[in-house]
Amino acid sequence: MATKKLVETGNVISNEELSADVNAMVLECPKVVELAQPGQFVMIKNEMGSTYLRRPFGVADVDKEKGLLLLIYRKAGKGTNELSMLEEGAPISVEGPLGNGFSFDNDGRTLLVGGGVGIAPIIYTARKLGAEMAGPKPIILLGVRNHKELFWSDFLEDFSQKLVYTTDDGSYGRKGFAIDAIPDILKAYPDIKHIKVCGPTIMMKGIAELAIKQGLECEVSLEKRMACGFGVCLGCTFEGKSGKRWKVCGDGPVFDAEEVFG
Ligand SMILES: Cc1cc2nc3c(=O)[nH]c(=O)nc-3n(C[C@H](O)[C@H](O)[C@H](O)COP(=O)(O)OP(=O)(O)OC[C@H]3O[C@@H](n4cnc5c(N)ncnc54)[C@H](O)[C@@H]3O)c2cc1C
Ligand code: FES
Repeated sequence: MATKKLVETGNVISNEELSADVNAMVLECPKVVELAQPGQFVMIKNEMGSTYLRRPFGVADVDKEKGLLLLIYRKAGKGTNELSMLEEGAPISVEGPLGNGFSFDNDGRTLLVGGGVGIAPIIYTARKLGAEMAGPKPIILLGVRNHKELFWSDFLEDFSQKLVYTTDDGSYGRKGFAIDAIPDILKAYPDIKHIKVCGPTIMMKGIAELAIKQGLECEVSLEKRMACGFGVCLGCTFEGKSGKRWKVCGDGPVFDAEEVFG
């Protein structure tokens, strides 16, 4: 379990448009950043916005020296559209870091898979595996809609042994879904022992089933609508394969794939 969380008023350092509907926001919030681990999330409140509830976002990356937190978000509704209008200096209340992130093991190579904006938490995870830990750099597989979403390379290139894209329309990389590329990747890198996935449920389910069949350890990062973010409202629960009821916010968002899809 995550041991510590804080509420800190941070301020916007930059809020850049990466594509028509995706922004990258850098927040200065050194206390939360100091504690943040890959796969954890924060609940944020735009102090200048009109939404009452906080909104959850994965920790995309951190700069611990400068106390900076990167969030990458898709404009999905009122809250995120209001976020996208914020300029440098705007105040944001950041609660976190929340939940349990990915686990790390030096034994063998890791395949990181991200789909859509689920690629965000893959960045910090890749930094940890590719730049902070000894051992082989991860292979990173990204499933995106089309060539207009290749901005992810700027965040990930330095940490990967190989970066593979699939696009829905074939406008870059391999045409199709991320899962279609996995058999070739496993053949080319037989030292892969772990798979970590964040993206749409259907993608995570397919990859989890493949990993379980091949005897590979697999972790998935779940998304549920969250009202409180710390185990009180019970809005984010699901029943695992073991019969246990889990809270995505407190027990996850990262779970062993067998418990979710096994
Ligand atoms: C642990 C976690 C981490 C997340 N990380 C990211 C991230 O890194 N980047 C990112 O772009 N998004 C992320 N999300 C989703 C993000 O929280 C929602 O897109 C956001 O809250 C929408 O707020 P809104 O006010 O703009 O939309 P609303 O007006 O509230 O809703 C618009 C649409 O967004 C969807 N939505 C709303 N809230 C959630 C939610 N909590 N989870 C999933 N879908 C939701 C609804 O289906 C709705 O159709 C994450 C969600 C969770 C639970
Ligand atoms: S979001 Fe309230 S219990 Fe998980």
